[in-house]
Parts: sequence; structure tokens; C-alpha cells
Amino acid sequence: MSIVPPPDLKRLAADLETLSSYRDPDAPGWTRPVFSAVDRRAREWVRTRMSEAGLEVTVDTAGNLLGLLRGTSGEPGALLTGSHTDTVMGGGRFDGIVGVLGAIEVVRCLRAAGISLGHDLVVTDFLGEEPNDFGLSCVGSRAMAGALDEAHLEVRDSRGRSLGEALAAGGGDPARLREARWSPGSVHCYVELHIEQGPRLEETGTPIGVVTGIVGIHRLLARLERRPDHAGTTPMEQRRDALDGAAETVLAIERLARGGVATAGRLEIKPAALNVVPAEAELWAEARSDDEEWLVAFKESIEEELGAVAKRRRLATSLDWRSREPPVPVTDWVADAVHRATRSLRLTALSMPSGAGHDASYMARLGPMGMIFVPSRGGRSHCPEEWTDLAHIGQGVAALAETLCLVDRSSGGTDGGAG
Ligand code: GLV
Ligand code: MN
Ligand code: MN
Repeated sequence: MSIVPPPDLKRLAADLETLSSYRDPDAPGWTRPVFSAVDRRAREWVRTRMSEAGLEVTVDTAGNLLGLLRGTSGEPGALLTGSHTDTVMGGGRFDGIVGVLGAIEVVRCLRAAGISLGHDLVVTDFLGEEPNDFGLSCVGSRAMAGALDEAHLEVRDSRGRSLGEALAAGGGDPARLREARWSPGSVHCYVELHIEQGPRLEETGTPIGVVTGIVGIHRLLARLERRPDHAGTTPMEQRRDALDGAAETVLAIERLARGGVATAGRLEIKPAALNVVPAEAELWAEARSDDEEWLVAFKESIEEELGAVAKRRRLATSLDWRSREPPVPVTDWVADAVHRATRSLRLTALSMPSGAGHDASYMARLGPMGMIFVPSRGGRSHCPEEWTDLAHIGQGVAALAETLCLVDRSSGGTDGGAG
């Protein structure tokens, strides 16, 4: 039996409703991109909610919101839990915010029941988990893990703004970025609650997913260019059409995806006029797998393919790997704790890998890490139809609360498991 009282579903529903209502009215779905005005306003609201729940809130130099609940026994290492509150363009209402609002709800439940944790508990709203115009995801959690460096801060978006400038405008302090770093070992354990974003839990009628590992993600920006020409007068054999070259590259990415997944998600062309042969194409794509060797083979193959396209079509091409993150396994004793927590709540659970990327991958560089999934209706995510029933979110929050209590009492696997 759990000692933590169940979450207040009405309060949780109201929080989910309010936070998801912070969205760009001119964009489709629930759009709240990092560095936007609406994201800043949303995070101000989250900050207030954290304070009202009794957390001591700070913003670190990477723009992360950190809410501290002090532990009672001065145990070394902090317990961390949270997620992100930014969304993709045209995204949904639950990706990320379930983990942040769920963590705040856990704090309220613990405090209301007078339950103290030995370790400090830090609730995190990481800055910018979704890929941004700089081609980088997990900006805040990367910085905490010491994986955001000077070179990243110099990367520019299509308007010429650097990531450092965006970070400064977004509440961070790039000149003091190092201060956002946590040292390896400073985290006793990180546990993140998130929606599954795929169909398995719903298909199997299972309320809780216990994550076994998170995919590796390699992201690239390919540029193809030559010259604009008149679309009516330039003979086909004399053209150097950047878009035709990009189209071949897109199909190569699809072909090479066998054995993993790969997606060409964004393509911009110039001059983008109906009667001009395209002179420039910028293609963003990514590949994901839980097999690092497959990812390396994909990288080599796509470099070859682009080289061949360039030669065949007499185009100038460049390939910029914006991020290459390896697959990350979940810590066994943390996954065991999630299983034990779900059993004590009399919930069924399914062990499963995550095909989505998460801040948890970076937190794993600082200490033991685990993740809890709740079902996504129809497996849909990163779209306006993204939905998770409140009852499922409540079960996920209860599992998070119970897991945090178990790992709080664990000495980190050396005692043979949590609790
Ligand atoms: C994050 O949502 C990702 O998987 O890209
Ligand atoms: Mn997402
Ligand atoms: Mn997410």
C-alpha cells in the first residue's frame, strides 16, 4: 500500500488546462516554442505554481526552472524529477507538461501528508527540450550535464541570431553558463514522468510503461546550392536544381531508415518562386535507433548519398551534424523501483524502450535515471490530437510519487535495489 495520498485530479486537470492554454494563437495546435514570448509567460506561471506548492524556486544560468523541497536528513545527492514545457510547432497538450505538473502535484501530496524525503527534491522545468531553430534539443538539461558548450552558443538560426543571444533573451546568462552545471554524482536519482507518445500501452491495456532505455538521435542539416535560373527557358540538362537534389536526398533517408527510423522533417528552398529553378535547399533530418552502430552506419551512408547527389547534379553541398546523441539505458535499480511502485499501487506495467528523446538522457550523465510512461490515445503525439486521459495521468503521478519515496530510501543499487 502506498503511503502517499493520491493526486488531486481536479487540481491537476486545472493545471494542465491552464498551462496548455499558453499557446501561440497564430500557429496550429498547441504551439509554445522555446524562446518565444508565450513560452516565457508559461514558465512564469509554472514558477508561481512551484512557489505555491512550497518549492524554493530559482532560474539557473541555462534558463532552467528549479524548485527545491529541502530534504530532512542531509542525504548527499539530490533527487530530481520534472520534464519540459515547450512544445513542437503544431504540437499537443501533454508532451512534457505532464512531467512538470505531475512533479508539482507530487510535492503538494507529500507536503499535505507530512511526508518528508531524506534527500533534497528538485522539480525541474528544463529549458527547450524540443529541437529549436538552432537544430538543438534539450538545451537546459544539456547545460546541467555540462554538454552545452561555447560552440553550441555560437550556432545561428536562419535570422542570424546566435543560441547565446536567444538564451540571454530567454532568461539565461550564457556568459555564466558553467554555473548551471551539476557535477556527476550530484544527482542521487532522476525520475521523469512522460506520456508514451506511441501506441503500445493503449494497445495492451497497460496503464504504466517502465522505460528501459532512450533512443540515440543523430540530427543533420544538409545544404544544397547552385544557381537560380528561368524555369521556362533553361533546358532540363543545363539546370542545377537544388530542390531536385534535396528530393533525392529525402528518398535516400527513407531508404536508409531500414533497421531504425529516419525522418526528413524540414525543407526550405530559395528563392521559392514558381517560375525559378530552386537555387538553395536546406534540409533538416534525423535518424534514431537504440543501436549506436546502426546510427554510425546511417551517418556514413547519408554522407555518401549526398556526395553522389552533388556529383550527379553538379551541386555544392555541405552536411552539418547538429547533434549526435547515443542511446541511453535506464538504470536497472531505478526501473525496478518503478515496477515495485506500480505493484504497490496495484497497477500493471510494461517494460518498454522510448523512441522519443527526453531530458532524462542528459540527466543520466549525472546519476541514475528512470522514466515512467502513461498511455497516449491512438499513439498520437507531436500533433494537436495528442491526448492522455486524466485517470491515466493520475496513475502516472501516483507511480511517480511512490517511486520517488522508494528511491529516496535506496542507497543507489548497492543495497540490492530500491528500498
Ligand atoms: C522529443 O519529443 C523528441 O523525441 O524529439
Ligand atoms: Mn516532444
Ligand atoms: Mn517531451
